[in-house]
Amino acid sequence: MEQSFIMIKPDGVQRGLVGEIIARFEKKGFTLKGLRLMQIEKSFAEKHYADLSAKPFFGGLVEYVTSGPVVAMVWEGKGVVETGRKIIGATNPAASAPGTIRGDFAIDVGRNVIHGSDSVDNAKKEIALWFPDGVVDWQKSVHPWIYE
Ligand code: PPS
Repeated sequence: MEQSFIMIKPDGVQRGLVGEIIARFEKKGFTLKGLRLMQIEKSFAEKHYADLSAKPFFGGLVEYVTSGPVVAMVWEGKGVVETGRKIIGATNPAASAPGTIRGDFAIDVGRNVIHGSDSVDNAKKEIALWFPDGVVDWQKSVHPWIYE
């Protein structure tokens, strides 16, 4: 089953949005497979965002995600990478539709509350980086009520 890496950024944690965000993924029907509250180092953030190292906002992004604890999660389910990005909304909250997490809870791109993997391949890489010991193997008994 497909998995996605979802991270609630420091602003989301500080503003008390953890429960709200988890609820949105849970209520959709996705399964929580991994959950860690972490304070990450600069070098770890630089690794996670390595593909963006040439971007002018890279330094600010690294400073932002290391400014406080983050909640790292693995969510599982059919199409969770693409659907997770829809639940999250567009990168720039100004372009995020109401009803999405960023559309409802964010204003600035540099404080956009949450990260979600943008492809299945990147999800695998990110999960390996953030959950080096793997995730919990459990099956939800509600599966027959979620999948045909
Ligand atoms: S890009 O330029 O198209 O590669 O960027 P994009 O795919 O839209 O976003 C990649 C991540 O960079 C974050 N981002 C920013 N952070 C701070 N300031 C600015 N201006 C900015 N622009 C993009 C964006 O939120 C993405 O982070 P994640 O954590 O993946 O959401």
